[in-house]
Amino acid sequence: MDNLEIYNYPLSTFHYPFFLTLRETFLLRMKTILTTSSAEAAVLIRRGGIVAFPTETVYGLGANVFDERAIAKVFTAKQRPNDNPLIAHVGNLEQIKLLVSEITPNAQRFIEAFFPAPLTLILPKAEEVPLVATANLQTIGVRMPKNDLALDFLRACETPIVAPSANLSGKPSPTIWQAVYEDLNGRIDCILQGATTEIGLESTVVDCTSIVPLVLRAGAITLEQLQTIEPKTRIYKVPKSEHPKSPGLRHRHYSPKAEVMLINPKSKIQNPKSKAFIGLNKPNEKFESVKICASVEEYAHELFNFFRECDRKNIKTIFCETVEETGIGLALMDRLKRASDD
Ligand code: TXA
Ligand code: MG
Repeated sequence: MDNLEIYNYPLSTFHYPFFLTLRETFLLRMKTILTTSSAEAAVLIRRGGIVAFPTETVYGLGANVFDERAIAKVFTAKQRPNDNPLIAHVGNLEQIKLLVSEITPNAQRFIEAFFPAPLTLILPKAEEVPLVATANLQTIGVRMPKNDLALDFLRACETPIVAPSANLSGKPSPTIWQAVYEDLNGRIDCILQGATTEIGLESTVVDCTSIVPLVLRAGAITLEQLQTIEPKTRIYKVPKSEHPKSPGLRHRHYSPKAEVMLINPKSKIQNPKSKAFIGLNKPNEKFESVKICASVEEYAHELFNFFRECDRKNIKTIFCETVEETGIGLALMDRLKRASDD
């Protein structure tokens, strides 16, 4: 068991119980335990703690879905706007019934075809699910991750776990535990250390509350795959006038500190000093930092980590090559457009 004590805030036993609420409000630095043991991480969840854990998409920051205080800590630690709902993660299909009041027919078909998968289904929530988890919505996102360590951890928790991506709000989602550490050390109870996440972009989010399933966020389960199960499935287009269906669409996302510019493979870049490039084709110019990816999947896998690396090197502009918007290319272009949007 790798149980390093990274930061020890000197709270005396006298002060600790009296200042617990204060500590939560101002987030005085707390000890963040690093561990590879899902059992140890699950104990902290059962004690009301918040724990970052790997999934196949990105690392999540978990809390017991029925523990309102723990959920509040997730919002505080991430500095997440409280109008942005959380996704609930399950370790087995049975647990879905604890979260929703109804599994609609198209959701049932998606569950049978894909779960466990990088796919989140929006369904009417069960009464028992606290409104803090869903940002006052009467619906909840449910997903079963396809990652052995995540499933071990979720099963050891013996309760569904709400988890947004384990980054500070607005920053790129973490694909390695070190990125979680960079953003949240001293703000959360524990990081369950796993490998680099397999996919690197967040799950596909599909609203299954009506007859036509709507893709609210593109991800590794593609529109084409969903349409083989339910041909009516459509991409949700954010209306200019109304509130978007997915509150997360209102918030700035996935952005490095550097400016992100989208370019096509033939673009010429002036003066590439203190600039970086990521894409599929080798550029002619000499950039300070370059990542050439062999496939769109690898590009998706590398993107967020590359953004973080560039920020560490103080790169001012990151040029990202555009890709075709099919398959996972749709999800990749969605994240690139959002990162480049001011
Ligand atoms: O891959 C993932 O989905 C990762 C891992 C940790 O599972 N989680 C993740 O969570 O990306 P988060 O909170 O960063 O993004 C969840 C997105 C947000 O845009 C949120 O607004 C949307 O899903 N969402 C959650 N619940 C919703 C609901 N009831 N209705 C509509 N949108 C919802
Ligand atoms: Mg997120």
